[in-house]
Amino acid sequence: MTRAVSMKVVLTALALALISPTVSLAGPVTSAPDPAYGKVLAERLCSNCHLVSSAQEQVNVDVPSFHEIGNLQSQTEGSIMAKIVMPKHPMPVIPITKSELEDLAAYIMSLKDQETE
Ligand code: HEC
Repeated sequence: MTRAVSMKVVLTALALALISPTVSLAGPVTSAPDPAYGKVLAERLCSNCHLVSSAQEQVNVDVPSFHEIGNLQSQTEGSIMAKIVMPKHPMPVIPITKSELEDLAAYIMSLKDQETE
C-alpha cells in the first residue's frame, strides 16, 4: 500500500514538473521582441563575424557591424529578419527560432542612431 502511495506522489510531482515549464514559457512566446535578449544571442551567435557591440574589437573589415546594419537606409526589423533567414553569401544560415529572430532584429534596430534634424 505504501508503495502505491509513494508512486502517486512521484506521479503528481512529475505532472507538476511537466506543467510548470509550459506555464512559464507562455509569457515570452507572446510578448514583444526583447532587444536585451537579442544582444545576448548576437554576442553568442554572430560576434564571430560581426562587430556586435562597441566593447568588441574589430572582427572582419568585410562584414558590416550591427551598428552599420541598423543604420542602413530604409532598414527595418522586417528587412533585417529577411536577411538573416535568407543570408547573402558568405553569411551562413543560422538556425534560430522566430522569437529569437525578432529579438535579434529588435536589438540591431536599437543600435540605429537617433535622427538629428
Ligand atoms: C560566418 C560569418 C557570419 C556570421 C556567423 C553571421 N553573419 Fe551576418 N553577415 C555576414 C556577412 C559576410 C554579411 C555581408 C553579406 C553581404 O551583403 O555581402 C552579413 C550580413 C548580414 C546582414 C545583412 C545586412 C544588410 O542589411 O545588408 C544581417 C542583417 C546579418 N548579417 C545579421 C546577422 C545575425 C543576426 C547573425 C547572428 C545570428 C549573423 N549575421 C551571423 C557574415 C556572418
